[in-house]
Amino acid sequence: MRGDQTAAWQVLAEYAKTFPGFDLRSEFARDTGRAAHFSQDAPGVFADLSKNLWNAKIESLLLQLAQQAGVFEHRYRMFQGEAINATENRAVMHWLLRQPAQGAASDALPSDVKASLKEVHHTLNAMLAFAEKIRADHHITDVVNIGIGGSDLGPQMAVMALQSFALKDKRFHFVSNVDGHELDAVLQGLKADNTLFLVASKTFTTLDTMTNAVSAKRWFEAQGCKNVSQHFVALTSNGEAAGKFGIQTCFGFWDWVGGRYSVWSAIGLPLAIAIGADSFRAFLAGAHAMDQHFLHANSAQNLPVRLGLLDVWYRNFLHYTSRCIAPYHSAFKRLAPFMQQLEMESNGKQVDMAGKALPYGTSPVLWGEPGTNGQHAFFQMLHQGTDVVPLEFVAVKNATHTLPDHHALLLSNMLAQAQALMLGQSDDGGYKNFTGNRPSTVILLEDLTPFNLGALIALQEHRVFVSGAVWGINSFDQWGVELGKVLAKDIHARLLTGDASGLDASTAQLLKRLI
Ligand code: F6P
Repeated sequence: MRGDQTAAWQVLAEYAKTFPGFDLRSEFARDTGRAAHFSQDAPGVFADLSKNLWNAKIESLLLQLAQQAGVFEHRYRMFQGEAINATENRAVMHWLLRQPAQGAASDALPSDVKASLKEVHHTLNAMLAFAEKIRADHHITDVVNIGIGGSDLGPQMAVMALQSFALKDKRFHFVSNVDGHELDAVLQGLKADNTLFLVASKTFTTLDTMTNAVSAKRWFEAQGCKNVSQHFVALTSNGEAAGKFGIQTCFGFWDWVGGRYSVWSAIGLPLAIAIGADSFRAFLAGAHAMDQHFLHANSAQNLPVRLGLLDVWYRNFLHYTSRCIAPYHSAFKRLAPFMQQLEMESNGKQVDMAGKALPYGTSPVLWGEPGTNGQHAFFQMLHQGTDVVPLEFVAVKNATHTLPDHHALLLSNMLAQAQALMLGQSDDGGYKNFTGNRPSTVILLEDLTPFNLGALIALQEHRVFVSGAVWGINSFDQWGVELGKVLAKDIHARLLTGDASGLDASTAQLLKRLI
């Protein structure tokens, strides 16, 4: 049942009307157990949700909402390999990519899913063996991943996040944009003979990626190198197209892996080369531990469930339209862009599963930047702006650098920001007045390890699943990206010929300026 058709939704809507009086400071004063009640451990992470604008009553109503909206049945269907991506008639099984080959949970899978699991491990073993071969090949100094969207953001984010585990004698480059400046700048620093290109594209048809791959191949040959098959590898579910491109080494994956959920598949090869097979397996193990938590933990202590429901509370009942992610670790530079695709491409939908227009908001706008940089840029608005933006801090207890003082300063800034948002400061309504009562979540990792990163990313995937399920939408298609692609084809042809006939006046005018 769609979220808004449940009884719990109506009760929450009524309750939200009384909410302007809610004050976090009084809640903490009234309830000494609040911090403990709204905090929990989950695999790889600890989360403190207590500085959010909710209480035990809201949480319990939200859990009823999840129950009544069928979130848990939907979760079961995903983990049974049912075709819950109905508009594309596909199963949604990125979780299978981190499922161990053996064990009671794997044995209990439906037989067709078990058959897929076999293929998963077959490919994983081959890909990790290849990664180890490249790691040992000192001749290869540069690895260039050519891909976009899910074929770029996941591996790029993870390679950066795990840089302290990465090989030091290879450089990793990520080329995504069809803007030739990007590829050109990377190529200028390369020697063809020492470079491995990974052409990462689920479909192997994406214009941006194919244009970059063709140009990279042309450049490679222009350097006098003939052995394309030795220096180009494909990561794709369209092996045939990769073959036509001249690529012989191809690591495949399946239509049941969505692009934004594909870092666990062959798309993770740059990460596997960077951190090695054992660490890549640890990355998968962390995600698997979070899968098990999501599947089996009691819903009141289930972190993806709690986060996803909090997202619904903010979006639909307090009407907040965005969420800010502030990782206090510079290795998380690409976490916000990764999460943008995860949340906004999954849940940026305006119709329900039956194609009916939704009467409520879905995906918030997700944005962010590592702290402390954000503090000196946009935090002003978070503290004193007219809109309330829930903030999600991500911090790591232990640093891997050896500079004294820095880490304690970094962490104290993170704690202070969360505190300032909540406590505020009164100045008789003047310039220095902070209303406070502004919500934030803190997610803590003990160390930024492959296991913990895997768990953190799987946590984010599942929280998006939970809110999407309450909203009754298909979180696993992305039809909204198609129209622009079709129009770009038409406009590209016109840019070459100068034909502006039949175009709207604005586009025609701009086109004329650009030819
Ligand atoms: O256009 C959006 C999209 O389809 C994303 O969903 C996907 O991650 C990205 O493009 C890249 O697609 P592909 O891996 O097929 O090149």
